[in-house]
Amino acid sequence: MTAVERIEELRAEVLSAVALAGSTSDLESVRVKYLGRSAELTEIKKSIRDLSPEDRKSVGGASNKATKEIEAALQERLESIAATEREERLRVEAVDVTLPGTPYPKGSLHPSLRVIDEVVDFFVGLGYRVAEGPEVETDYYNFTALNIPPGHPARGMQDTFFLDEGLVLRTHTSPVQIRTMLSQEPPVYVVCPGRTYRRDSDPTHTPMFNQIEGLAVDKGLTLGHLKGTLAAMARHVFGEDVKVRLRPSYFQFVEPGVELDVSCFVCGGSDPNCKVCRGAGWIEMLGAGMVDPAVLTEVGYDPEEYTGFAFGMGPDRMAMVKYGIPDLRLFFEGDLRFLRQF
Ligand code: PHE
Repeated sequence: MTAVERIEELRAEVLSAVALAGSTSDLESVRVKYLGRSAELTEIKKSIRDLSPEDRKSVGGASNKATKEIEAALQERLESIAATEREERLRVEAVDVTLPGTPYPKGSLHPSLRVIDEVVDFFVGLGYRVAEGPEVETDYYNFTALNIPPGHPARGMQDTFFLDEGLVLRTHTSPVQIRTMLSQEPPVYVVCPGRTYRRDSDPTHTPMFNQIEGLAVDKGLTLGHLKGTLAAMARHVFGEDVKVRLRPSYFQFVEPGVELDVSCFVCGGSDPNCKVCRGAGWIEMLGAGMVDPAVLTEVGYDPEEYTGFAFGMGPDRMAMVKYGIPDLRLFFEGDLRFLRQF
């Protein structure tokens, strides 16, 4: 068989191998086998220079032509296989964007947080600023600056968690009043939500609970401003029809001190068996009063020029009343069955 005939045979062989190749990697093997460095056709080309000038021309021509044809066939087949493979990949990896997504369970706001939001929103609407303070507080801010000096019996009422070196877990949010007044000049209008701690645990007390403190200091503020402000807040949280009343009370850092009751928003006082007010017609809501001149003096405000009122409320307690929840401890157990009801 002449070299030219052998080339023709190889050409036919390659073209059918190309036609049979089913993947790009099959094609690559064909290319290596027939056009690679040790392929027969390559060997034939290498030997051309040893041939007679006549043969050189015919064998050279035939091998070049065959190489070109093989390359073209490989290229054409490669393109068609690549297109098929791409289509296949697109089909397999296709994402149906119309399928519904993975449903996530929906959360809801904790009942305390709802009340906190309502109260804070109300005061922000009146122009109050939100202030916060640390939960680990010094004895000075938690007690002394609030007119509760060391050794005073009022300290004993708070069931304090004492820490080392004159630190306590704050028993109320009132220290934020002091921090605020020390850091700015009057007028002051702040509302201070936060966590507070007392050594107490029964159906209506938990060792950790929330409070919201409010403080207003300005020229000419009176108990009337305090009552009007808190009455508006009570209507915002419990409904337009509720009324408020003040009862005399005592807190070391206010004078006079009062407690504020809200008329029962469930029965309005008409049901002696009412579960919410137990027939009293009134619900105890919060402690408040006019800031004691001793406290104003302590923070460097002139009590002859400025007066102020302060109040502190328990949003957890308010949520119990508002949503009819019998046990405060439920609020902090994190039981999803409880939380899902809101
Ligand atoms: N800090 C008081 C308490 O926790 C509440 C209070 C705040 C009373 C502000 C009067 C004024 O009991």
